[in-house]
Amino acid sequence: MPNKLFRKKNILDALSESAGSNGGLKRTLSSTNLVTLGIGAIVGTGIFVVTGQAAADYAGPSLTISFLISAICCVLAGLCYAEFASMIPISGSVYSYSYVTTGELLAWFIGWDLVLEYLFACSSVAVGWSGYMLNLLEGFGIHIPQHIAASTLVYKDGWAFSGSIINFPAVFIVGVVTAFLIGGIRQSAFVNNIIVAIKVGVILLFIGFGISYIDVGNWDPYIPENVSGEFGKYGWSGILRGAGVVFFAYLGFDALSTTAQETRNPQKDMPRGILISLIICAILYISVTAVLTGIVNYKELHVDAPVAIAVDKAGEGLSWLSPFIKLGAIAGISSVILVMMLGQSRIYYAISNDGLLPKIFSKVNRRGVPYNATIFASIITGLTAGLFPLDVLSELVSIGTLMAFTIVCILIIVLRKTQPNLQRPFKTPFVPWIPLLGAGVCLLQMVSLPWGTWLRLIGWTVVGLIIYFLYGIRKSNLEKKKEKNERI
Ligand code: ALA
Repeated sequence: MPNKLFRKKNILDALSESAGSNGGLKRTLSSTNLVTLGIGAIVGTGIFVVTGQAAADYAGPSLTISFLISAICCVLAGLCYAEFASMIPISGSVYSYSYVTTGELLAWFIGWDLVLEYLFACSSVAVGWSGYMLNLLEGFGIHIPQHIAASTLVYKDGWAFSGSIINFPAVFIVGVVTAFLIGGIRQSAFVNNIIVAIKVGVILLFIGFGISYIDVGNWDPYIPENVSGEFGKYGWSGILRGAGVVFFAYLGFDALSTTAQETRNPQKDMPRGILISLIICAILYISVTAVLTGIVNYKELHVDAPVAIAVDKAGEGLSWLSPFIKLGAIAGISSVILVMMLGQSRIYYAISNDGLLPKIFSKVNRRGVPYNATIFASIITGLTAGLFPLDVLSELVSIGTLMAFTIVCILIIVLRKTQPNLQRPFKTPFVPWIPLLGAGVCLLQMVSLPWGTWLRLIGWTVVGLIIYFLYGIRKSNLEKKKEKNERI
């Protein structure tokens, strides 16, 4: 039995699967597509909502420093992702890296964790989209009744029904995104490019026009004094807590690695796509935060739509920008759903390709889309987004992501030791220090998360292990191969 749990997929077998027929997937993505997919996945609710709240509650104007710290953490993990994605350019991301490095059980565990990350990220962002959409429609005098516009369940000292049937707008956007995904990766990338152009355009307009409305008095003090020794309430500890909170805003760059098998030149373009999109987003985030806290005093920023509030506060001169900000937010959030759902379907595809999930999920249509995996991802995401409230959904996203980042950093060190001669088109610099630092920072953030979040993660993991021991362990391709060899 232990042999089964630690059996590894041969890295050359893994690579040859992606050569030749490429498992039916099509290599169409260019390096520009990767950068825009990266920005598409990263820029969403984080910048349009979380920025204001984190400035108001934790860091004040010095949230710019929090964004810088968080970017550095993500770049540490991003460098490790880049090495793997260029070395093993197949669609399963950390799941596949783990299968060749540490064996089947840990690979399943991390694959299941990636499902958690992408499923809950997608659903929470879809619920956020619903909120923005309802607000926009209200502005046009269109009112969507509450019983089809809020989650079915709420959590307050226990689960209860909210009185609403389902969060219909959240389900709706998941359906629309699915239709684009089924159309093929080329079409999805095209739609994503348009959305990214809109949201980055709106952000640049805000920075460019907002700059002249900055009142430097709002930046004084730049680092507000810590409140009565409480950790995280302004001061340097507030900057650190702010960095943990805005970490959410950078999530998504890792989803890019799930498209490695659909990239024309993954060895060169994957590292570029991951790192360039991260750096562009860091520059955008820091600039938006500087302008935002310059126009509005940070104490007034604990609102749902801080960027829109800043535009209103600037007065007549900037009021024309207000509808564009809402449009940018809605468009921006849509592309996060698109790329995260793409990532989710590719994880199902990769796991099923190895036999650990039913083969139906690795069936690919003429356009190179794993359609069953995409439709399954859509149904699960739509249901989760329609039934559950935002706070419960979003808390699981960070812990799942941090765990994936930690494992990727550690695997880099393991593979450098066990397979030193493998061709590495991109090498993470200063190994083992960069991966160790990356893993350390992620672990530190994980232990600071509430115990309830850990319990839910443990529950999720137990369900995953049950599925593995009932199904995957027997149906694994490696098991079948072994049985075949024994018969010969
Ligand atoms: N980074 C993504 C967002 O901010 C999850 O919406």
